[in-house]
Amino acid sequence: MSTSIIGASVTRVDGPLKVTGAARYALDHPLENMAFGVPVASTVGSARIAGIETTEAARMPGVLAILHHGNVDPLFRPAGHFEQNSRAGEVRPPFEDDQVYYYGQFVALVVANTLEQAQAAAARIHVDYQPHSSVVELSAAPAPQGPPRIHYTRGDAAEAFDSAPVKIDQTYTIPPETHNPMEMHATIAAWDGDQLTLYETTQGVVNHRHVMSEMLGVPIDRITVISPFCGSGFGGKLFPWPHSLLAAIGARRVQRPVKVQVTRALMFTTVGHRPLTQQRMRLGATQDGKLVFIQHDVLQPTSLVDTYVEGCTGVTTMLYSCANVAASQQLVPINIGTPTPMRGPGIVPGLFPLESAMDELAIQLNLDPLELRLKNYAEQDESYNPVRPFSSKRLRECYQTGAEKWGWSQRTPQMGSMRRNGEMIGWGMATATWHAGRGSATVRVRLNADGTARASCATQDIGTGTYTIFAQVVSEKTGIPIEKIQVVLGDSSLPDGPTSGGSTVTATVLPAVSQATQGVVDRVIAVAQQSPVSPFYASNNTAGGDPSKLAMTAGRIHAADQPPASGVPFQQILAGARLAALDADARTAPDPAEMHQFSAHSFGAQFIEVAWDPDIARLRVSRALTVIDAGRIINKKAGRNQILGAVVMGIGMGIFEETLYDPRNAKPLNNNFADYLVATNADIPDLDCIFVEYPDLHVNEYGARGIGEIGLAGVAPALAMAVWHATGVRVRKLPVRLEELMAAERKVA
Ligand code: MOS
Repeated sequence: MSTSIIGASVTRVDGPLKVTGAARYALDHPLENMAFGVPVASTVGSARIAGIETTEAARMPGVLAILHHGNVDPLFRPAGHFEQNSRAGEVRPPFEDDQVYYYGQFVALVVANTLEQAQAAAARIHVDYQPHSSVVELSAAPAPQGPPRIHYTRGDAAEAFDSAPVKIDQTYTIPPETHNPMEMHATIAAWDGDQLTLYETTQGVVNHRHVMSEMLGVPIDRITVISPFCGSGFGGKLFPWPHSLLAAIGARRVQRPVKVQVTRALMFTTVGHRPLTQQRMRLGATQDGKLVFIQHDVLQPTSLVDTYVEGCTGVTTMLYSCANVAASQQLVPINIGTPTPMRGPGIVPGLFPLESAMDELAIQLNLDPLELRLKNYAEQDESYNPVRPFSSKRLRECYQTGAEKWGWSQRTPQMGSMRRNGEMIGWGMATATWHAGRGSATVRVRLNADGTARASCATQDIGTGTYTIFAQVVSEKTGIPIEKIQVVLGDSSLPDGPTSGGSTVTATVLPAVSQATQGVVDRVIAVAQQSPVSPFYASNNTAGGDPSKLAMTAGRIHAADQPPASGVPFQQILAGARLAALDADARTAPDPAEMHQFSAHSFGAQFIEVAWDPDIARLRVSRALTVIDAGRIINKKAGRNQILGAVVMGIGMGIFEETLYDPRNAKPLNNNFADYLVATNADIPDLDCIFVEYPDLHVNEYGARGIGEIGLAGVAPALAMAVWHATGVRVRKLPVRLEELMAAERKVA
């Protein structure tokens, strides 16, 4: 089709439901006889619970039950029984024993008739802690023991570093960052006999169901997880966290539906965060700017209840061509809630040191930073042995398109050399990348005799536009208009679909939607040929008998060699055969041979301008441009929105975001929106985004790779580079702080 709906700018099909308030988020599900669960969270970082005094609370009005480790059977640990999709946020179930491992850990749950009654009673529970000393800061923790979690080498790094004529050796720090989606974590758990329904806000209904089955010890066919809408997740909702289990056991105890909401303050302790990373980056290069050596060593705290690894070094091993590369990552367990993936895990924090060090190297070599990147361009993925070709890589074009559009050639490289209206202007650029994953999915497509279609899958739309791409594919293959296509997601009882993670859903589901649609079209065609009242009934039609001779276009079944207008609407075929509907399922999975033959990644170039006004100590981002090579973009409107939203998040990462913990017990000190700053409208200039579109047919037949995370990848390093260019201050510890810029202001005359 010349005017294909694939690749068009399509308004989200779920938009009207959201803006009218009709969309049901987790807590919006109206259940009869609801009770309210309020967790009690530990106020110490490490302790043994010597006792929990609940007498007073239990007598308070409306209190139905108080649960804690002393009166519930221990839950099971997630076992990973299922081949995939079986991962909890932390492996230790709540109330497992009398130990407290981190500040904010749930130690009790009060269930009452109303939220206020539960809150009031929770405040009267007295927990007797026998505190242990807690280790909260990396600097206070014992040196990591044992082999590193990640260890990578190629070539001879040590020797190459010694002999390299130009060297960079710096340590960069990303602070802990906390996911702050608008919709906080929440669960309603409702038992009907031995059947459990969980109304959740989750990035993975299928995974959630598996984990709940394992940890509650309830057969999986008795659990349903419902999550039709999600007020975003950013990775924080990839895996189930303890509150969901508490809702389930609370509801079982009181025999009523129980609603548990994680408050904004508890969002900072019990549902994951991006961990701090302390990253030493060493680069060695020749005088003309060829990298001869890269070494990237990472220290990362994790919790005592999980072993989450924020894999920062993977990107270092593949982004540039370099013969000698070494990388390692060590975990340091401390008394803190467990970390978890946050948009662009590993790569986003890993790119900050790599791209910052590349800029420092460019300055030392007196080379344009873009030219330095082109000199070290990786034509193939050297992280593999033997090296692998990329499935498709147009990064060079991203750099060039971006530089032209930006006017990069106008840049004067000296720090403080660009000024405008009394402000010092800085320009920075960085590379962005994200791996292009694809998983398996089953999709069901139904054509109804009323002329509508329905596509369903147990995946979910976390705000990215997943509903809409399902409808686009069904519409593309049938010609049924988008508004007549219903998409049903966010229900674990539907055919198994993927977790919304790793920017993989689009690449994963498109082939399944396509095949299922083709499957049901084939069924309608078969009916058209077999139904005596159909104009295409085989005995009426000398060409009949062979399904390939009919086609479906513009919602009509017609002879393949005739225009659609010559045929009949598909619903007429169904009605003639007295069929209310026909459906078809399709399960698709990536081809493992193809996956191993190629290295599939998306790429991008990001350009940032900052303006520093030294008179009033104001730093702002004044321009941002992102050029992305992510294969074919299925929905231009939602795609652009994904990238620009990620850039907003990146500006927050660059100049605002940091979770501050009390060094005595890891109590998050800025656990609210007044003190934990994210970028808001006033911080955001005009943003632009360009897609360099080359369909990547090795990933799927649509040529689409994911775009959820890549837009964040290069923002912070480009921003730090722009800050250096404007002010002469090199920020190696995020976020950029005005204090540092003020203290060093004299650097630029
Ligand atoms: Mo993403 S951190 O896989 O939601």
